[in-house]
Amino acid sequence: MTRSPDFIRAGVIGHPLRHSKSPLIHSHWIAQYGLNGSYEAVDIAPDNLQDGITRLIEDGCAGFNVTIPHKQSIFAMCDTLDDAARAIGAVNTVVIKDGKLSGHNTDAFGFIENLRQEISDIRFEEATCVVLGAGGAARAIVYGLLQQGAGKIIIANRTKQNADDLAAHYPEKAFAEDWKARHDILSDADFLINTTSLGMEGKDFLDIDLTRLKRDAIVSDIVYVPSVTPLLAQAAAQGNRTVSGLGMLLHQARPAFEKWFGVLPDVNDALKEKLQA
Ligand code: ATR
Repeated sequence: MTRSPDFIRAGVIGHPLRHSKSPLIHSHWIAQYGLNGSYEAVDIAPDNLQDGITRLIEDGCAGFNVTIPHKQSIFAMCDTLDDAARAIGAVNTVVIKDGKLSGHNTDAFGFIENLRQEISDIRFEEATCVVLGAGGAARAIVYGLLQQGAGKIIIANRTKQNADDLAAHYPEKAFAEDWKARHDILSDADFLINTTSLGMEGKDFLDIDLTRLKRDAIVSDIVYVPSVTPLLAQAAAQGNRTVSGLGMLLHQARPAFEKWFGVLPDVNDALKEKLQA
């Protein structure tokens, strides 16, 4: 089948890719907005990354999302980087133009936008935020919270050194704590965010005592399988408002889609249901 010259191709690169939800999300939007394009999963092993990218450029691809294990390697290959990608140290979205790669990171946008959609009276200014975990997702979330004016970020992580390293990027705003302190640091928190994989289907349970949490604190999780994690269920049961990780996954995809296809898509219930099916 020949494709018209205005056909737009995009996709996601990673290895392995069988768990990626991105093709489902972007294909849904291509159909919803009646666009002439495609979004495909492109499995590229780490050893073939350079060749794989060259092939995408030669094929006229508009750009791609980047997932495990390429987020940091792609960072080094980009010709330009946006502020978020530079601050977070990782790229999840690439735009190809005239053979050059521009690297972006939309995870912070996705996290913040999801909270804004779910909690209409949300206020980040001067908020105290407890972040569990200090990996790639935590880097994006800490950056996003501080961009929104959060006052203080407390990072508790199993490997304290990783929390120290992340906190060191934001002196006077971010502070590292031992993992065992996670219960005691909750009393001042306006937000509690789990960025670890604990609570995910098939992984260990996130063991945390939420009783010190203020009743108006907001609890969110980046884990989205299950959509209501034990952490969120525990928080909701004691009256805290909760935000599931599914929305972050959807909202981080929106600015990427806009960069390639020229439409900022919305997140509707049909898409949410499709993802949970
Ligand atoms: P991502 O890029 O998705 O954030 P990651 O970089 O692998 O993934 O980070 C996973 C986070 O979950 C890390 O903070 C990790 O803690 P370590 O820095 O000690 O590795 C945390 N994590 C993973 N398994 C954990 C467990 N069983 N208990 C506590 N923390 C855990």
